[in-house]
Formats: sequence, C-alpha cells, structure tokens
Amino acid sequence: MIAGYVNMAKFQVLDHPLIQHKLTMIRDKNVGTKLFRETVRELSTLMAYEVSRTMPVKDVEVETPICKTTKKALAGKKVAIVPILRAGLGMVDGITEMIPAAKIGFIGMYRDEETLKPHEYFVKLPEDIAERQIFIVDPMLATGGSAVMAIEALKKRGAKEEAMKFVSLVAAPEGVKAIQEAFPNVDIFVAGLDEKLNEDGYIVPGLGDAGDRLFGTK
Ligand code: URA
Repeated sequence: MIAGYVNMAKFQVLDHPLIQHKLTMIRDKNVGTKLFRETVRELSTLMAYEVSRTMPVKDVEVETPICKTTKKALAGKKVAIVPILRAGLGMVDGITEMIPAAKIGFIGMYRDEETLKPHEYFVKLPEDIAERQIFIVDPMLATGGSAVMAIEALKKRGAKEEAMKFVSLVAAPEGVKAIQEAFPNVDIFVAGLDEKLNEDGYIVPGLGDAGDRLFGTK
C-alpha cells in the first residue's frame, strides 16, 4: 500500500519477471539507442499482454475440424492506442504486435523547460474514439501534467474516462497521484514505480529522457 493514492484498485505495477528484467536493462545509461528502442518495444508488447487481461470476452460459436463448439473471444469495444508525442511513439509498435487491429490516435504535447508545464499542439484521433477502449501511452509518467492534459483532450472529444488505460514504463508517485485525483476512473499500469521527481522534473532513479534515448537526440 502506497500512502496518498486515491484508488489502489486502479493502479498496477506489472511485476512480471520479464518486464522487470527488461526495464532494469534500459535504466542503464550505457544502453544505446538501438537496444533501448528495441527493448521499449518488447516491454510494450509484454505490458499490452498484461493490460489486456481486463478486456471483456464473450461466447462465440466456432466450428473446428471435429465439431461445432462455443468458446471465448474478445467482446465489446475496439481499441485505440493514443501515444503522447513524442516518446509515446516508442511504445506503439510493441502494442500493435498484441492488438494489430487497434487504431492509432496522437496527442502532441511539449513541456516548457522552465515552467515544466505541458502544452497541447496536436490532436488527431479515430473518429469513433467515444466507442473505443483507449490505451494512452507515454513511457514516463513524471509530474502527470501531460497525462492529465491528454486525458482532458480525449474527454473533450467524446472519449469515456472509464474506457481509458494509461500505460507507462516508469512512474513517479506525483504523476500517479495527479491522474488519480483528476480522473479516478482511469486505470494506470506501469512497469516501475520510482521514488520521486528531481528539481528538473526527471524521475529518480528513472531512465533519463525517454524521448532522447528512443530517438538518439539530446
Ligand atoms: N520525461 C522523461 O523522459 N524522463 C523523466 O524522467 C521525466 C519526464
């Protein structure tokens, strides 16, 4: 139990050993762009598998080579993956490995380096976003400022809070709390919950700037 959280039922650290191992690998500052990018992709696939455990199933009829039978298949809403630009892009391909029919939306945010506040500059979503389950993806959930703005941007366009899952590799407690206070119905899934933010807004110990490490910029 972590003090200060609004709703622990809506927050999960995905503690699968492969997820933990791969996350620890990419925390290493000596891991270069290629391996970092590949591992973020693998982590995203593994996380999508875990996150999709909660997706509803229904009975369907199927005819095997032997006989007709009734078995389970995915039911209900279709999925949209919505990366927060730019670092969220690094998680998209890994998730579509698991959910290939998902549509992809985009929310562009940049962080003012002085105020650390996020600003929205681009939103493009599937037109039926209101009917979809939504995986909002951003490798780092730091202050929660971009996450809260992204959820607001989605809600403004008809998306349902209950249909949203926020998926991050690493979170700071501050970010989790910010989402849960603003949007208690959004599920949050992370691979690691770290200690805190430093004075520059980086997660400690974290893994540095996820966008720079994914794309080889500085
Ligand atoms: N964004 C990052 O990429 N890294 C952090 O530690 C915080 C925000």
